Amino acid sequence: MQSAVSVKDLKIAYGDHTVIEKLSIDIAPREFLVLLGPSGCGKSTLLNAIAGLQDITDGEMWISGKNVTWDEPKDRGIGMVFQSYALYPRMTVRKNLSFGLRVAGLPKTEIEARIARTASLLHLDKLLERRPSELSGGQRQRVAIGRALVREVDVFLFDEPLSNLDAKLRNELRVEIKKLHQSLGNTMIYVTHDQVEALTLADRIAIMKDGVIQQLATPSEIYHHPANLFVAGFIGAPAMNFIEGRIAVETSTPIFEGDGLQIDLSGYPFLTSIKAGPATLGIRPEHLAPDGAARGWPTILGTVSVVEPMGADTVIWFDWGGETFSCRTMGDAAFTPGSRITAGLDSAKISLFDAHGARL
Ligand SMILES: Nc1ncnc2c1ncn2[C@@H]1O[C@H](COP(=O)(O)OP(=O)(O)O)[C@@H](O)[C@H]1O
Ligand SMILES: [Mg+2]
Repeated sequence: MQSAVSVKDLKIAYGDHTVIEKLSIDIAPREFLVLLGPSGCGKSTLLNAIAGLQDITDGEMWISGKNVTWDEPKDRGIGMVFQSYALYPRMTVRKNLSFGLRVAGLPKTEIEARIARTASLLHLDKLLERRPSELSGGQRQRVAIGRALVREVDVFLFDEPLSNLDAKLRNELRVEIKKLHQSLGNTMIYVTHDQVEALTLADRIAIMKDGVIQQLATPSEIYHHPANLFVAGFIGAPAMNFIEGRIAVETSTPIFEGDGLQIDLSGYPFLTSIKAGPATLGIRPEHLAPDGAARGWPTILGTVSVVEPMGADTVIWFDWGGETFSCRTMGDAAFTPGSRITAGLDSAKISLFDAHGARL
């Protein structure tokens, strides 16, 4: 199948400062791909390079089977939405939506039809005669999205479109963007530093650090089988707990040993990839149970520092071996600061990393 977007051996450098070394990625038609990573890792640079807004040092860009490396942004068949809405303040919503189409010389009836379709999709019908100053932040961002949609192209690029909105609006608009993708069925490449947006929106997430894709996989794969310590620590809130130690394979069952803790690894799903030596064990807060002893799991005995009720569940923070751990339990929990906790590790759910941080 032909890719909707192909980035081939992309290199971007400012003088001798290389931001992206040699990056390749293929994005399938109709795919919702999220570029996720901390601020400064090169997400916007990559997106702008796809859009043609960024000079590239080396490599090629293909969109819908066509080499667009040297094409102007307007000729690449893309629509782009930025974090800053960048609406024309003196124009009504209708004029903001139609401006690009009028410049491109589309017939009036076609422009009107496209505005009607877009306004209805984004619930802007009643706002068409208002100016941006008469809209809320969420409404302005809808108009900004609408301005990309009216172009009716196959590929949409979003650069942190929800970052300027408050939490409630952000959640609402996130759901709308997902609906939009389900109904339009076009290719979307969406940049964010917010892991919740990435996990909820993406078909696949490309998680980046220092201009390098660390893992490209489905949200579930990235969450449950992070490729390295960076991905493991970046995805999940509270973050995955880590225990330093070593893997011993002297006996018939491999064992993880750390700080007096011994865990039988015979249930580890990737047993054949295990080798002896220094290792880090990772366990997500929901796979550490405050009643783990009752289930016969390996346990760590800690002292509770903070209890955070979240409504549906509770996060219990505790100290063990000089480190802070978090465990998540359904409903309310009968713990108070200072009380002892026997947290059990679900050894079927652990992740193991070698001395270089790569997943075993
Ligand atoms: N004009 C520039 N000159 C030099 N370095 C730049 C320039 N623009 C961006 N950078 C660097 O490129 C890196 C990636 O930036 P960016 O793509 O904006 O990151 P992100 O969108 O992931 O936050 C950063 O380290 C930034 O400092
Ligand atoms: Mg950015």
